[in-house]
Amino acid sequence: MQIEQGVTAAVVTGAASGLGRASAYALAGAGAKVAVFDINEEAGRAVADDIGGLFCKVNILDEDSVLDGFALARDAHGQERVLVHCAVAAKGGKTVGKDRETGGWKRLSTEDYAFAAMGVLVASYRMASISALGMVEHLEPLDDNERGVITLTASVAAQDAQVGQVAYGSCKAGVNGLVLPMARDLMDVGIRVNSIMPGIMATPPMLGVPPKVLEVLSNSVPFPKRLGKPEEFGSLVLELVRNGYFNGQNIRLDGAIRMPPR
Ligand SMILES: NC(=O)c1ccc[n+]([C@@H]2O[C@H](COP(=O)([O-])OP(=O)(O)OC[C@H]3O[C@@H](n4cnc5c(N)ncnc54)[C@H](O)[C@@H]3O)[C@@H](O)[C@H]2O)c1
Repeated sequence: MQIEQGVTAAVVTGAASGLGRASAYALAGAGAKVAVFDINEEAGRAVADDIGGLFCKVNILDEDSVLDGFALARDAHGQERVLVHCAVAAKGGKTVGKDRETGGWKRLSTEDYAFAAMGVLVASYRMASISALGMVEHLEPLDDNERGVITLTASVAAQDAQVGQVAYGSCKAGVNGLVLPMARDLMDVGIRVNSIMPGIMATPPMLGVPPKVLEVLSNSVPFPKRLGKPEEFGSLVLELVRNGYFNGQNIRLDGAIRMPPR
């Protein structure tokens, strides 16, 4: 799909920071009208102001908040043809590990697992399905019978999660698992669905670790020996919009890294 300057509307979640922010800049740079969905109002507004987009305060864990966000974005920009879902909410922990406070054993609680399931997997389904319904109801197909493009964010942890990532990794694997059945469900209405699995990317959560650890992480990447740039993610997001033959695909963006157990 070609992005039509000032016509194509896009929704990007988690767009106040990191990979979502870079996706919002990439799409706006290509001429899209971008709605910045995030729970962080201050940072989200700053991004929206800078790219001439619209900020929508949205909590991906709350269906009503998401529906309100889509209504606001569609009022301002029209129905989105592009959804990029980057926001995430999850808690880490080992299946069974030592409790630092008591010295005894503890397990990752079912509640904490369920929180990751909601914040990673269910939220991805929520965003994608609400967006797809809007596309079907409100958009005419373009060339090639294409209505829209949905890009979800998984992680290399979907395939090689490390110790302590049982909830995050398995739910990101679920995000990858959503892609093909959803692409098939939407094949008759012209909506493509893909996921990107980033490796170690230079975003605030990663840049928050001590410099020594960052150096070790950079050196662990086969080539190039550095963290991925958010703009490299944004660039792939754009390519997934533009290249109409990408569909039903889970794509690693990782400098060939394969994560070790720890
Ligand atoms: N950075 C990496 O190395 C890396 C690697 C693999 C996968 N990922 C995935 O990429 C995506 C983006 O990660 P990032 O590194 O850019 O993170 P980030 O922390 O820089 O950005 C995440 C954004 O999501 C927003 N957010 C958090 N909870 C929310 C909620 N409930 N509702 C709405 N917005 C919410 C935050 O405010 C923030 O702006 C995530 O899905 C993450 O799992 C990142």
